[in-house]
Amino acid sequence: MDNSTRLQYLEAMGIDVWVPRKQAVVEIEENQAVSDNESIPIEEVDNTLTLGWDELKQQVNECNKCDLSQFRKQIVFGEGNINAEWMLVGEAPNQDEDSAAKPFVAQSGFLLTEMLRAIGVQRESAYITNIVKCSPADNKDPKVNELKSCDSYLKRQIGLVKPKLILAVGRVAAHALLGTKKPISELRGIVHYMDDIPVVVVYHPAYLLRSLLEKRKAWQDLQLALKTYQEK
Ligand code: URA
Repeated sequence: MDNSTRLQYLEAMGIDVWVPRKQAVVEIEENQAVSDNESIPIEEVDNTLTLGWDELKQQVNECNKCDLSQFRKQIVFGEGNINAEWMLVGEAPNQDEDSAAKPFVAQSGFLLTEMLRAIGVQRESAYITNIVKCSPADNKDPKVNELKSCDSYLKRQIGLVKPKLILAVGRVAAHALLGTKKPISELRGIVHYMDDIPVVVVYHPAYLLRSLLEKRKAWQDLQLALKTYQEK
């Protein structure tokens, strides 16, 4: 009779089955090890902040951290000079940008290019991207989880470009970059800092296209950005 059958008979007859001490300890230790493992939360290892440009773009291309990935035609990663001194961060691509895979195309892109030119900055010399890399449906404001999903991608882009100055283009970009919910009227006109990089908030060109009266303030903000850049 093999050992396990013998143990089953003994157990059925109500006879205690003694297990040699050494074997019992091993079983307890193994169980212990298993339950310990199960109780350790498995933290997602985010290696984004160590990636180079190609790997980062590939990671964004393959990203499905939030629902926006299901509806995008393609990601809008960013474009321009990867060694730029001026970095512009907008909100999120819209349908035009989703089709073109470029940030700030169409009307608001045209105005943004003109705003830069007005202070002597060529668009191609800057690096332009958005907080969110996929286009939200119906051009709605990105949701909190959508902003969070892209957070480390933008951080890595900033780390790689190492700009002398960041222009936060519009309310959503300003809120996400500066971690605040203050109205843009309180955020503009001041130089903020992300680590030691100055951040200047400007009105979004799409807003300026609707509110021509605010163009004077936008000009003041651009002047502030230029002065800050020149003094850095
Ligand atoms: N297009 C972009 O790329 N970003 C915006 O914030 C708006 C339009």
